[in-house]
Amino acid sequence: MNILIIGSGGREHAIALAVKQSPLCKKLICAPGNPGMSSLGKCIPVSVSDPIAIADLAEKEQIDFTIVGPEIPLVAGVVDEFRKRGLRAFGPIAAAAALEGSKAFSKNVMKKYGIPTAAYETFTDLKSAQEFLKAHPAPIVIKASGLAAGKGAVVCLTDEEAFQTVDEMLGEKAVFGESGKTVVIEEFMEGEEASLFAICDGKDYVLLSSAQDHKRIFDNDLGPNTGGMGAYSPAPVVTESLLEDVKRRIIEPTLAGMIQEGAPYTGVLYVGIMVTKNGPKVVEYNCRLGDPECQIVLPLYDGDVLALFDAAERGALSTLGAPKPPKGSAAIVVLASEGYPNAYEAGQEVSGIEEAEKNGARVLHAGTKMENGKLLTAGGRVFGVVGSGKDLSEALRQAYDACEKVIFKGKYYRRDIGKKGLERCSK
Ligand code: AMP
Ligand code: GLY
Repeated sequence: MNILIIGSGGREHAIALAVKQSPLCKKLICAPGNPGMSSLGKCIPVSVSDPIAIADLAEKEQIDFTIVGPEIPLVAGVVDEFRKRGLRAFGPIAAAAALEGSKAFSKNVMKKYGIPTAAYETFTDLKSAQEFLKAHPAPIVIKASGLAAGKGAVVCLTDEEAFQTVDEMLGEKAVFGESGKTVVIEEFMEGEEASLFAICDGKDYVLLSSAQDHKRIFDNDLGPNTGGMGAYSPAPVVTESLLEDVKRRIIEPTLAGMIQEGAPYTGVLYVGIMVTKNGPKVVEYNCRLGDPECQIVLPLYDGDVLALFDAAERGALSTLGAPKPPKGSAAIVVLASEGYPNAYEAGQEVSGIEEAEKNGARVLHAGTKMENGKLLTAGGRVFGVVGSGKDLSEALRQAYDACEKVIFKGKYYRRDIGKKGLERCSK
């Protein structure tokens, strides 16, 4: 098959690596791709927010199967556009991607189908939001309903912060623009978080290995939220019995609910859960693989990733048989530009990647560019360094050894990725 991968981050680099290993892949095109992906397939520029341009590209390049990495084209209806033209793309249609595109919609689906999540209310005007906050003291969580690149949820530990946040979203400043004009205010849930990825074909699903992300910028989960600073898989907090609970009480009713809603879910259903003392509850749904979690769960899948996505798109997952449990562990540490998630300097020269990969680690490109034959930083998250091994400590050691060897000015990374997992393993 001729394959097209849409996106340009570490997640898409990992998808490209997995697809390239498949005997089903004849030609690989990445759009827009990144310098890391350019050694795996041809990179062609495209606007990821433009479904028509993406479908035009697929037709022009005679693509048989397109894999959509990021949420923006999915929420914008790229899969609908492909289906309209009789083309094949792996991902949910817009009406299903709304599970990520609109928190107001996803909370409503959870309420309607009895899926455990934090209690909430939705607001579009500042006055009513303020009234609600007066009756519901901190800690409380305030979320922009629309897409906000992982930065639209604010956990408010004080009342002052809560009032300030609704003011920023619903007041004149409207810091999240349209995305923040509808706001979800929800109960603060206490517990440990984990991510689960279900590859869905509308009715059936295959679960990938569980993962735990690290969203805050600083060690010990301090500082503002980011897109994700590191992750490991499997996550020991996700025990067999918890997993059964998540399947029965969250994933299965979500898929059944989406059929009821007239938008059967095909693609990756990413469920962020909080493991509370009353069992798992949904923190959020996303309509795509997590970044950086994708970079570790795909290599742990003991099978052909392209064949898996292909079967899901055809509604034929039941023909694949049960997936084998993952062998060993994987961990990823994100190398970021100093200052991220706020302002940072790009354009720093990078070296040491070959050296870093000598121990078996993989350095995936998240925010880089080539200019005059030089590799430069071009994003807040610059690389994801992936280590693997027989257990978590081996995987972390390999990743951290390699992190030291990648060199660029302002390199910043967390030193405590996987700490919670190691503590659990030693118990
Ligand atoms: P979201 O964008 O909805 O995934 O939220 C981003 C992060 O905020 C999550 O990964 C959690 O760490 C935190 N968070 C979101 N909702 C809640 C909640 N109801 N209770 C506690 N923490 C939350
Ligand atoms: N790692 C979190 C996300 O992809 O949203």
